[in-house]
Amino acid sequence: MNVGIIGAGHIAGKIARTLEWTEGIDCIAVGSRSQEKADSFAKEFRIPRAYGSYDALLEDPDVDLVYIATPHSHHFEPTMEALEKGKACLVEKAFMANARETKAVLDKAKEKGIFVAEAIWTRYQPARNIINRLISYGRIGQIRQICATLSHGVMHLPRITRPELCGGTLLDIGLYPLNFVRMVCDNPIEKIESQCVLSDEGVDISETISLTLEGGILATIRSSVCCEGFNTASIEGTEGCITIDNTNNPKLIRVYGKGGRLIEEIAVPESISGYEYEFQACKEAMEKGLIEPPQMPHSETLFLMELMDSLRKEWGVHYPMD
Ligand SMILES: NC(=O)c1ccc[n+]([C@@H]2O[C@H](COP(=O)([O-])OP(=O)(O)OC[C@H]3O[C@@H](n4cnc5c(N)ncnc54)[C@H](OP(=O)(O)O)[C@@H]3O)[C@@H](O)[C@H]2O)c1
Repeated sequence: MNVGIIGAGHIAGKIARTLEWTEGIDCIAVGSRSQEKADSFAKEFRIPRAYGSYDALLEDPDVDLVYIATPHSHHFEPTMEALEKGKACLVEKAFMANARETKAVLDKAKEKGIFVAEAIWTRYQPARNIINRLISYGRIGQIRQICATLSHGVMHLPRITRPELCGGTLLDIGLYPLNFVRMVCDNPIEKIESQCVLSDEGVDISETISLTLEGGILATIRSSVCCEGFNTASIEGTEGCITIDNTNNPKLIRVYGKGGRLIEEIAVPESISGYEYEFQACKEAMEKGLIEPPQMPHSETLFLMELMDSLRKEWGVHYPMD
């Protein structure tokens, strides 16, 4: 599978480096708003083709999958154009600015029969299956509480602070703990309570979200872009609990029994960077002729986007595209 990257920024570099080592998947092109930037990115990551516009990359007949790595505010336009041109897309999280854009993109993918997926890497990582298997084997009994946290002090980045770039914690970092809860338990949400601190520019910079899920399960999510966090997650059951060392990129999973007795420690298999799994999932799904990956179905991308819309509405966080 040949990948073309749109947006030669921070995460694009990590992906380009990962794909250098990923078997069966090659990054063959990068598209930037500037030819100079595209050239230097292509040179750094040994990518054969460099385009000075996103449109030019979308015209490349050899690109099978377009990886969209622009700020959230700028996911919609290139994704729609790519789908129009019949190109499959893997779009960085948060998928779009809001549910309206998300729905339009997913409808377009369906209409054209073209693959599109959200690049939320934890969905595709092996840790997810390890955790879900432990739960389904009954290792901790019935789940009663889920707690997930993720905080990074990244207020120096314009795409985090500016409303016109869809800044804020929720779409960038808060999405991970929210998604963690949904991966562990997708029971219907009965009640949502939240608290949020807004920046002077009006974006959410610190938040606590509490979800009551059907079946008597309480989920607590904490996230912030203005402090450093411990970034762990836990799943607490009637017979024990599971702890995860990093909500965003699990490496070590521990199972405890009654009274806090450590029963098992599971190291997550070594990976290139952890980003390779989302590309492998796209390849597999596209080879099967699917338009969505089973790991992150379109319905789930839309569900999370709608949930984030309703939280932003409650907090008074508005983007120009709302
Ligand atoms: N999966 C992960 O672990 C992870 C980690 C970090 C970020 N992300 C996601 O990746 C996406 C990009 O984040 P990033 O940290 O890579 O951002 P970044 O370093 O700021 O790069 C974004 C790129 O988007 C392009 N762009 C297009 N319009 C822009 C505009 N108006 N302002 C700024 N840049 C614009 C630029 O590329 P050109 O100048 O080349 O056109 C820029 O280099 C976001 O959706 C973010 O949530 C994911």
